Formats: sequence, structure tokens, C-alpha cells
Amino acid sequence: MNKFEFRPTLNNVGCYIKVNLKLVNNSQIKIIQNLLDKFGVLFFKNQNLSPKEYLDFSSNFGTPAKYPMLKPHKDFKDIYVIERKKEDSGKSFGEGYHTDSQYLEKPPRYTFLQAINVPKEGQGNTLFANQFLAYEALPNKLKNKIEKIKGIFSSKGKIASTRVLREKEHGTSDVKEIRSTHSIVQTINGKKTIYCSPGHLIELLNCETDQKKLISFLLSHQIKSEFTYSFCWSPGDIALWSNRCMLHAATAFNGDRKMFRITVQ
Ligand SMILES: [Fe+2]
Repeated sequence: MNKFEFRPTLNNVGCYIKVNLKLVNNSQIKIIQNLLDKFGVLFFKNQNLSPKEYLDFSSNFGTPAKYPMLKPHKDFKDIYVIERKKEDSGKSFGEGYHTDSQYLEKPPRYTFLQAINVPKEGQGNTLFANQFLAYEALPNKLKNKIEKIKGIFSSKGKIASTRVLREKEHGTSDVKEIRSTHSIVQTINGKKTIYCSPGHLIELLNCETDQKKLISFLLSHQIKSEFTYSFCWSPGDIALWSNRCMLHAATAFNGDRKMFRITVQ
């Protein structure tokens, strides 16, 4: 029997799930999907899925999305390798809060990351900020104010600088700036969330107040400590999150680290 247990993190930012994903059955997949809707990010320790098992698991959540900035794994076109070596300098890929590819018209709904190789414990954590909680905590007046506001998001937003090293190694040369416009409040299963990637936002539309002030308030509110959780990786761990209701950020580290990423639509 494949035992299934779950345990929310401190402040309900996300949820740990104890199950063997190699043996997961359909009713357990259904529970995982519901927990993902509820919490926004799920952590599965010690899974060590093969690329094929990993892709099979991800297919329960959508169809693979193409990442326009990097070339995929040489044998598995839907897996992207996020790698940093000890000798690399500069920021880690994805350092700074963001949600994946919000500059696309249809950003990927979910992202999966499996750790292949990680630096020593406590280094190279990924931070998550739950945007259901961030929305809920806004004063009512501000909830009304931002309801109609849209953001313009760009692939050249401030997070772009953390891609430079990866693009040099695996980049696709044909991509120029990509921009897209999205409402910064979204509803998922009846629950509202702030959908605003600090790493990609360049301007607000339909904003009737001082936009600089509002942006600075919003971006600091979104990542208050009570909405955030720092996930510590071991090899074989998988994190799965919704890009609609969860911000994430890589943290600085020194050492070798290799992750396999899948995004689905
Ligand atoms: Fe990311």
C-alpha cells in the first residue's frame, strides 16, 4: 500500500506530502490536485523520479510548456536543466521573487522542480510567498482599488539579469523582449490572489493613484514573512507550485547545484 500523509507548513504557506510518487494512484493524484489548489505549493521529499516517471507525474497537471529562454535537456525536450557550478559567479538563476514567465500571454500554470544535485543543507533554498494569503491580508479599500488594475510584464524585467549565465550556456538566440498584460488580481476556484511578478512588472494600467507608491507598497506586502516559507532541498526532492498564486525566489549559494524543471499549461 502506498501510504499518503500531508502536513501544512508554518502559516499554511504550502504543504508537505508524504507519498511514493512512483506508485501514486488516481485517487491520490486527485487529492494532490486539490491540495495544490488549496495551498499553492507542495513539497515531496526523497522521490528520485527518473525523467520518464517525472514527466508522467507532471502529465496529470497539464501539457508541457515550452520555456522560450533556454534549450531543453538533450534527451527530454520537456525538461529544462537549471545548473550552477561552484566556479560560477553572479546571481543564481531566478534569484529575486517572481512567478514564472508572466511576460507570456499564457504563462505556464504549474512549475515542477526536482533536485538532482544540491549544495550542503541550508544553501540554495527556494523561497515561496503565498499570494492567496497576501491578498487576504490587504485592507478592503486596497482590495477594491487594485481589482481593475492590470500590469505590463516584460521578459526584460529585473529578474532577467539572473538568466545571463544560463543563456550563455544553453540560451536560444532568437528571443527578443516579450511583454504581456495581466490583471493583477485573479480568482482561482473562488479564491482571490495577487498575480503580480515583482521580477517582471514594469508598469501598471488603469491605476488612478501614484503608481510608483502603489508598486512599492504591493511588492513589499507580497513577500512579508508571514506569507513566506523557505524550502530546503535534498537530492530527489520535488516542489510543485501554481504560478497563479505563488511567488518564488532562488537564494544565493556557492557550490554545484543541478535541478530538472518542467512547466505545464
Ligand atoms: Fe522561477
